[in-house]
Amino acid sequence: MSASSSDAPVAIVTGAGRGLGREHALALARAGYDLVVNDLGGAGDGTGADATPAQQVVAQIEALGQRAIANGADVSNWEAAGEMIRSAVEHFGRLDALVNNAGILRDRTIANITEEDWDLSIAVNLKGSAAPLHHAAAYWRDLSKARGEPVNAAVVNTTSASGLYGAAGQSNYAAAKLGVAAMSVAAARELGRYGVRVNVLAPAAVTRLTEGVMKTEELKQRLQPRFVAPLVVYLLSDAARDITGRVFEMGGGALVAVDMPRPGAGLRHADGEWTPERIAEIMPTLLEQVPAQPSGIEAMQYMMSAPLDE
Ligand SMILES: NC(=O)c1ccc[n+]([C@@H]2O[C@H](COP(=O)([O-])OP(=O)(O)OC[C@H]3O[C@@H](n4cnc5c(N)ncnc54)[C@H](O)[C@@H]3O)[C@@H](O)[C@H]2O)c1
Repeated sequence: MSASSSDAPVAIVTGAGRGLGREHALALARAGYDLVVNDLGGAGDGTGADATPAQQVVAQIEALGQRAIANGADVSNWEAAGEMIRSAVEHFGRLDALVNNAGILRDRTIANITEEDWDLSIAVNLKGSAAPLHHAAAYWRDLSKARGEPVNAAVVNTTSASGLYGAAGQSNYAAAKLGVAAMSVAAARELGRYGVRVNVLAPAAVTRLTEGVMKTEELKQRLQPRFVAPLVVYLLSDAARDITGRVFEMGGGALVAVDMPRPGAGLRHADGEWTPERIAEIMPTLLEQVPAQPSGIEAMQYMMSAPLDE
């Protein structure tokens, strides 16, 4: 297929065959983007593969009047991720945006987890965001240097309340997802000079990954995956041109800007040498000034009781 002459912006959405990724891709198509619809098409635990979901979303995007190609890369495969970035540029002639959304769950407690559960979660959720980001960043860096000016590109990476707040039973997923947020803040600092913004989304929606815990009809209505997509469209747009390295929760009608780790409270010892006994004395006062990490449920309660936008 030949490169197109259309000047529509081009976005890659990973894991766009179903769930949140499909809604992100469709919303971007409605906003005028052409798309690479990536999806390996496996089960929620990362096993198997099926090209059909990505192809169906391509057909939906074409019905909306935009162009799209399917891509079946496993995003945790470094080479395949690079090939995905190259195929966007070769097919459409440009790349403006990357949405790293593909993710899986392998829930086990840390005492019961297997090496495979650990490795697969870190591979898909963390490396599966790093690999496309690396190849896209290298492309944009080279383009910016060749043009002698910054490009105008943006990335949205996907974290999770499980990672931000440390959900029990999800140590592998939490480690990967908080890693995604940390990676994004570091990458945002690196890529600003090339004109590339990197922000982070912690979505909440009923999909096959969450329907086991979000069972009621009311929750399904309130937590529709399509409710999250407007934030993705916004973060990729010029309206967000000054926003980078930020983390947001979105879902169920709520939009929350998340405070990433920052120094809480501290004391310095005059001679530089603390004793365990002195640490024991000052610890209650120190911790009084720094509230403990909220649980995921507390964070969700905050989202659901956030003030109304009126
Ligand atoms: N649903 C929620 O409430 C929620 C909450 C927090 C975070 N998330 C995150 O949002 C993202 C989307 O999740 P969802 O709920 O829509 O789940 P989903 O299972 O419906 O969609 C995920 C998609 O990613 C694809 N995928 C998985 N591994 C892949 C790989 N190696 N390469 C390419 N594609 C792959 C799957 O085939 C699937 O279509 C995930 O990163 C998930 O961790 C979701």
